[in-house]
Amino acid sequence: MVQEDPRILELRTMREKARQGGGADRIQKQHDKGKLTARERLDILLDPGTFNELEPYITHQGDELGLASEHYLGDGVVTGYGQIDGRTVYVYAQDFTVYGGTLGEMQSHKICRVMDLALRNGVPMIGLIDSGGARIQEGIRALGAYAEIFRRNAQYSGVIPQISVMLGPCAGGAAYSPALTDLIIMVERNSYMFLTGPEVIKAVTGERIDPESLGGTEVHMAVSGTAHLSAPTEEEALLLCRRALGYLASNNVENPPFTPPADDPLRMDEELNAIVPLDSSTPYDMHDVIERIVDQGTFLEIQPVFARNVITGFARMGGHSVGIVAQQPMVMAGVIDIGASDKITRFVRTCDCFNVPLVTLVDSPGFLPGIDQEHAGIIRHGAKVLYAYSEATVPKVSVITRKGYGGAYVVMSSKYLGTDVNYAWPSAEIAVMGAEGAVNIVYRRQLEQSTDPVAERERLVAEYREKFNNPYYAARNGYIDDIIEPRETRPKIIAALAALRDKYASAPPRKHGNMPV
Ligand code: HXC
Repeated sequence: MVQEDPRILELRTMREKARQGGGADRIQKQHDKGKLTARERLDILLDPGTFNELEPYITHQGDELGLASEHYLGDGVVTGYGQIDGRTVYVYAQDFTVYGGTLGEMQSHKICRVMDLALRNGVPMIGLIDSGGARIQEGIRALGAYAEIFRRNAQYSGVIPQISVMLGPCAGGAAYSPALTDLIIMVERNSYMFLTGPEVIKAVTGERIDPESLGGTEVHMAVSGTAHLSAPTEEEALLLCRRALGYLASNNVENPPFTPPADDPLRMDEELNAIVPLDSSTPYDMHDVIERIVDQGTFLEIQPVFARNVITGFARMGGHSVGIVAQQPMVMAGVIDIGASDKITRFVRTCDCFNVPLVTLVDSPGFLPGIDQEHAGIIRHGAKVLYAYSEATVPKVSVITRKGYGGAYVVMSSKYLGTDVNYAWPSAEIAVMGAEGAVNIVYRRQLEQSTDPVAERERLVAEYREKFNNPYYAARNGYIDDIIEPRETRPKIIAALAALRDKYASAPPRKHGNMPV
């Protein structure tokens, strides 16, 4: 029998040691909390057998506060590259069994290295975050180490997709870096994000709160709008990451992957013709419209429980990736408020970065009036929507299903913001404002002088409705490219997107724009 080379045996021992991270006891502790280890997570995230690790033997270089006596191979993060659905991605997965996944200068060095490689090769970067934030023992070096990552997050933004999957306590810097990435996916119960934790808050403000109520999944999905997707288990969160990535191009110059559709691109949906109630104040569920026009089973809603008056999500139409933005008449009549403005803007820009064409379904009575909204800056937030649609160069198609009033008509992918093809359903009402409001303003004097103001108002409102509350006035003026039957919507959008596939749009040269924030 051939004697094994001792150097190879040593390598195997070292490899096994690196795989053990913070040791068997800490791995057990991680499992006891219902959490997977960094390597187990990567096994789920990546196509089987595709992971190749980089720099597994790195250790911290510090000697402060007891560091000198404790060295763990890998320094609390597993980095490398692999594939998702056959596409290369770079990854890092923080290892909570080593100093609670905290970040010091060498961990940062490892993360920055894979970020740089991802950029250089034009492929997505995925971070699996499970960390107590800056490693206290490394002091200022840990802060600089975070800054190195933040700078890359910002500079690589819009060049390659960056996705963060939150799988543990993500305090301080561990929350900031994900906040700079394109998508944040959280796992329910075991992940939370905050800049300052419950203890610090108690000391500074006297408020008492538990971590879940401060920065748990529900908070970031429904209240703060910081997270985009969530899942009940780690496995589902990681599979969700794979799915979400499938809609995005690998970088800003490629197109998203095409999947041969299982659904007929020419399919008409007769039910759509009866979906908009005759009474224009009766709501209907825009989810039904979306599900009926996209390739069946492909809609992935983004931020499903934040600002529910608007719906955003990825889908496929004719096998091609699209980004859907649509008002939800079931929630606040589809009015646009500050939350909705944030949600639309962010989504439109994410799609535009990674070459996902935009399909906008419009049914909004306008911006939400109110002192709170005005004082909280609805002008600034609403302006973001204008900015995002005007700036986006991807193919843009819009369909006005019902209300397109005033500012809501303009901001929601209207023709002169640069939308390529604008359709309207026969139920569309396109006007500067609703009939009652318009009559009150335009005919105030006439109504004051009328002997029967009630009857006169009714007559004027009916006249206004006849003139403006339909798509034909807008179509006559060239604001609508065609009025289509609702059932034709799917084949019409697919045909429009096919005709726009080679769209070329140039923007004037500049350093960068200055979007209101
Ligand atoms: C060094 C840390 C650490 C930290 C945790 N550990 N946080 N080591 N620096 N920041 C270590 C623990 O000592 C422990 O080591 C191991 O990680 C696991 O921690 P536990 O407390 O046992 O785990 P758990 O009960 O699950 O609690 C996890 C935790 C808690 C919620 C993250 O540890 C915690 O609150 N840590 C402090 C979080 C924090 O305030 N970070 C600084 C943020 S400031 P052993 O050896 O026992 O396994 C920041 C600045 C950047 O990030 C700003 C950029 C803008």
